[in-house]
Amino acid sequence: MTMTAASPVTAPTAIALRGLCLHYTLGTSRIEVLRQVDLDIAAGQRVAVAGPSGSGKSSLLLLLAGLERPAAGSVMLDGLDLATLDRDALADLRRDRIGIVFQSFHLLPSLSALDNVALPLQMAGKRQAVAQARELLQKVGLGERLHHHPSQLSGGEQQRVAIARALVHRPRVLLADEPTGNLDDHTGALIRELLFDLQRDSGATLVLVTHDLDFAARCDRVLQLHDGQLHGKSPAAGTVGPHTAATTTHALPA
Ligand SMILES: Nc1ncnc2c1ncn2[C@@H]1O[C@H](COP(=O)(O)OP(=O)(O)OP(=O)(O)O)[C@@H](O)[C@H]1O
Ligand SMILES: [Mg+2]
Repeated sequence: MTMTAASPVTAPTAIALRGLCLHYTLGTSRIEVLRQVDLDIAAGQRVAVAGPSGSGKSSLLLLLAGLERPAAGSVMLDGLDLATLDRDALADLRRDRIGIVFQSFHLLPSLSALDNVALPLQMAGKRQAVAQARELLQKVGLGERLHHHPSQLSGGEQQRVAIARALVHRPRVLLADEPTGNLDDHTGALIRELLFDLQRDSGATLVLVTHDLDFAARCDRVLQLHDGQLHGKSPAAGTVGPHTAATTTHALPA
């Protein structure tokens, strides 16, 4: 088939959810979080997930990262069914392919910013881990804060360290949980640009949980999670939108 300028670029599916169900049980009470969720996300797409507090957005990211197991249904990442992987294999998958920006950062308090960012590379046995971490921290404007521990950094600075840590190993999938939550407008805007710049450079698939409608609107798709269901799934999976690069430039430190 001949591609024309108007033809959508068909990308492989990075994430596929089928009949995904999740509930939590506490004592005798059962909280239904996800009910039969189906979703396809094409490689390189930016997908925003919004929804009320408690609707299950963070839980959905935990399922995508293999940090939570579904009650039913499947999570496929790059064609790999997470249910077939044991704990070690899931840890390897996260180390190699997934970057996560947690809602509450989860930086290691005893490590400097530099060591927090270098850690994923060191775990993967990369010899240039510290040099690469330093380069990325400089890129996010923290070249003067390399040796600060998390408690010696502002909230926005910790957020930038968390983003650098999530991206330093060039994951194919980036999961970001409210990365601009609790930040002032100016810092939030800086973080937004930074996240999109780094995502564009790496060509990663982005699943972004956010309450910030402007942030969400810059994604290829905006999904709403409520009553355990995702709504607003268009455009069709497999179509790379205008924000995403069909080719990757890999401007992150090699
Ligand atoms: N480990 C757990 N055990 C029991 N219930 C849980 C657990 N984790 C989350 N929940 C409950 O599951 C529901 C979904 O939680 P989740 O953190 O995914 O919501 P959220 O959409 O991310 O909310 P927010 O916007 O406030 O971050 C909530 O009602 C929460 O209380
Ligand atoms: Mg949450």
